[in-house]
Amino acid sequence: MTYTVRAPAKINLHLGVGAPREDGFHPLLTVYQAVGICDDVTVSRSAGWSLGVTVPDWIDPDLVPDPGDNIVDRAARLLADHHGIEATAEVSIAKSIPMAGGMAGGSADAAAALVALDRLWGVETSDDDLLRIAAELGSDVPFALLGGTALGTGRGELVERVRDDGTWWWVAVVDPEGMSTPAVYRHFDELNPDADPEPPRADDLLEAIDTGDLDLLAASLRNDLQEAAFDLRPSLSDVIDRGERAGALRGLVSGSGPTCVFLAESADSAREVAAQLTGDGHDVVLVTHGPVAGAHVVTYV
Ligand code: C5P
Repeated sequence: MTYTVRAPAKINLHLGVGAPREDGFHPLLTVYQAVGICDDVTVSRSAGWSLGVTVPDWIDPDLVPDPGDNIVDRAARLLADHHGIEATAEVSIAKSIPMAGGMAGGSADAAAALVALDRLWGVETSDDDLLRIAAELGSDVPFALLGGTALGTGRGELVERVRDDGTWWWVAVVDPEGMSTPAVYRHFDELNPDADPEPPRADDLLEAIDTGDLDLLAASLRNDLQEAAFDLRPSLSDVIDRGERAGALRGLVSGSGPTCVFLAESADSAREVAAQLTGDGHDVVLVTHGPVAGAHVVTYV
């Protein structure tokens, strides 16, 4: 039996960050949206454990973690331990989500692997257990299981679906060089020594989603990590300016960066913005939309 599970990249429409907790993590109030840039994880039966990764030509293969260090290795071990079985499978990951880009590509792979291995091993993990194991793997992994548009609290791992009947068009400008999430959070702390422990709320943005108000959505997009990301990679602020001049309603850094995302008025407008940004010399510019489904089986043979 072979299963392929697809899991989406995410954008944070709102990333409100509070002062660090005692465990070092930052309390978040975030609104996630899953978008149509996806990784596929394929698993099949095997006597041992093997993991391969394929990347498109625009992703630097050096960014792929060494064998044994991939979050998918950890996901398999946690799920197998939970059921008291051995982690055996032949696994391959086909990447399309930018790596170390702030779009939770690693988290998507982990979520896809959990769903795929659960099926392959026939262990029927409950949704609650799957979400708990996902949270152990990383703050964004539960959202990659859930998909759609969702409110994230805690350190991002507590997710609650938000009704979203819209189709929102996005342009993503991928930076060839990844960025370290912990480094961006550390710099946020340096820039905000007096941050409130309570992360900023997202009332306007949630209203925009609820009522389908594109202009209100554009006006209320917010990323508290953006200033830190700009400081660490000053070129990003030019990227945002360029996208907005090209006709995007708003641009912002995705998560901890360095991918920049732009909200467009329509699919046509997104393609025009993307064409201009490509003309400006950005090699990797993707057009996508959200919300889309969380990790789900796409083929089984
Ligand atoms: O949970 P995850 O493994 O994705 O987090 C990666 C790093 O990002 C953490 O080690 C931490 O430095 C930072 N982080 C944080 N607060 C969060 C989420 C992540 O400080 N809420």
